[in-house]
Amino acid sequence: MRIFCGKDYADMSRKAANLVSAQLLLKPDSVLGFASGSTPLGMYEELVARCRLGDLDFSGASAISADEYRGLPPENRQSYRYYMNAHLYDHVNIRKERTFLPDGMAEDSAAACADYEALIRRLGGVDLQVLGVGHNGHIGFNEPGPSFPDETHLVNLAASTVAANRRFFGREEDVPRQALTIGVGTILRARRVLLMVSGSEKADVIKRAFAGPITPELPASALRLHRDVVLVGDEAALSELLAATPAHKGG
Ligand code: GLP
Repeated sequence: MRIFCGKDYADMSRKAANLVSAQLLLKPDSVLGFASGSTPLGMYEELVARCRLGDLDFSGASAISADEYRGLPPENRQSYRYYMNAHLYDHVNIRKERTFLPDGMAEDSAAACADYEALIRRLGGVDLQVLGVGHNGHIGFNEPGPSFPDETHLVNLAASTVAANRRFFGREEDVPRQALTIGVGTILRARRVLLMVSGSEKADVIKRAFAGPITPELPASALRLHRDVVLVGDEAALSELLAATPAHKGG
């Protein structure tokens, strides 16, 4: 694993944007995997700015997202389709028909999940999967559980995740209780994983994920089974991990 430590959120976002940019420059037809949540927003801003400057070209790329809420249509401002369009796809020259999310509106979620997994295979797999991490260690929406889910699947969101997502919704009852997410196996099959983390409130979960046991009770710990993980964080988020594992320092 490689660690890039930015001094603050802006620095971390630029470092992450550098890695996505490098991927796209070296392989213009990359299949990029993106995440939602607040952590990657600064990185998306950077990518948009670089594309406007002519330094980045998304015209050959495809993009998948890690997850989508069940039951939120694309025009709902809290859906991840809306999020991806608003923060990235509407502002860069990616072909919209080459951007994909699990179909949260499908009546048959199991079939939608199988279709999504098949789509990723048809695209040739994900070259670079960007991820954030939840406070309980979830990646995508893979919640803590008895085993690591392999493929894209429907999940019941953990109570703590519903509570964390509450801030984005007007009323408690509007917060979705289910989502479709790529599996931990799907993530591990990506050729490179870029995990982004920011803020002191993530310091403990990051330390446990990378310096504690590998366990499905902490899904992010599975990333240690991947041979090309890049962890990009700010000092606040990485402080505890770097203190626990001094060998990582200077990365
Ligand atoms: C959300 C999303 C994830 C995201 C994570 C962290 O629930 N499903 O894709 O990475 O939780 O979110 P944030 O970056 O806002 O802390």
